[in-house]
Amino acid sequence: MPSQPAKPAILISRLLPEPAIALARSRALVDAYDQDAAMPRQELLERLADKQGLICVISEVVDEALLEACPGLRVVSNVAVGYNNVDVATCTRRGVVVTNTPDVLTDTTADFAWTLLMATARRLVEADRYVREGRFRQWEYMLLLGGDVHGKTLGVVGFGRIGRAMARRALGFGMRVLYQDAVAADAATERELHATRTDLATLLRESDFVTLHTPLIAETRHLINARSLRTMKKTAYLINAARGPVVDEAALVQALKEGWIAGAGLDVFEAEPTVHPGLIGLPNVVLAPHIASGSLETRLRMATLAVENCLAVLQSQTPPTPVNPEVLTRR
Ligand code: DGY
Repeated sequence: MPSQPAKPAILISRLLPEPAIALARSRALVDAYDQDAAMPRQELLERLADKQGLICVISEVVDEALLEACPGLRVVSNVAVGYNNVDVATCTRRGVVVTNTPDVLTDTTADFAWTLLMATARRLVEADRYVREGRFRQWEYMLLLGGDVHGKTLGVVGFGRIGRAMARRALGFGMRVLYQDAVAADAATERELHATRTDLATLLRESDFVTLHTPLIAETRHLINARSLRTMKKTAYLINAARGPVVDEAALVQALKEGWIAGAGLDVFEAEPTVHPGLIGLPNVVLAPHIASGSLETRLRMATLAVENCLAVLQSQTPPTPVNPEVLTRR
């Protein structure tokens, strides 16, 4: 009888939804971390040393040292659409496939960025605190007045899937949409989303809401800095559900304190999980702990896609969503 090929070995470095882990176990030998917390680096290196696949989240730094310590690794499957935690160039050079989880989280992430936008403009968190603190003693005409959302101008920085999903939501609010991206959307998309491409300075100058949806790359680090914040309207709001370092947080604190802009809604931070202490005491910023893709359904879809990506590579098939597909053609 021909012997069965040995099952590949996978490390799942984070507690993921059980159905996704079960899928991985059905076709691989799985070593799964049992905590929803970052695995200590040394433990990660030790447990990954004899594995062919890694399924990880954004807190794991996949760099040259990790790849050097794990010479049998064939795939890094990131459970996130962003992959700035992975040194993709080095993975590519070493023949390691990198995958991510786009598409499945687009609408959930846009839903949350929109929630931040609404909560920030309409001061929802301040209002909630006001009621809980027993301060709602009578209806007041001028109480907690915010900014309108409908009919305003939305500036989308980064017009990929999530940026476009934000533009789609803006349609329902009768908003004008400006976008900035290195690549222009096709004419049909611009028409459908009533979106106009512009340069960043114009977008900052004209938008009532500036929402960030760029990946974190060298060119986008501190894209929003003191100069850009000073370019925005005093009545405008900044929303960031992309990556923290896209914004110079110290400059943002100054802008919020000194009224260069009206407010901000942040799901991500420059040195996550550390939050700039200057943000904590400010009333005109809404803060969330990087949960934009965090719906039950979407977190299951992301984990399942990550497992499918990992298994496909280990079975010498094309994974659904590779980041560096050029490695596949070299195999
Ligand atoms: C993503 O998918 O990139 C989210 O930020 C979760 O990490």
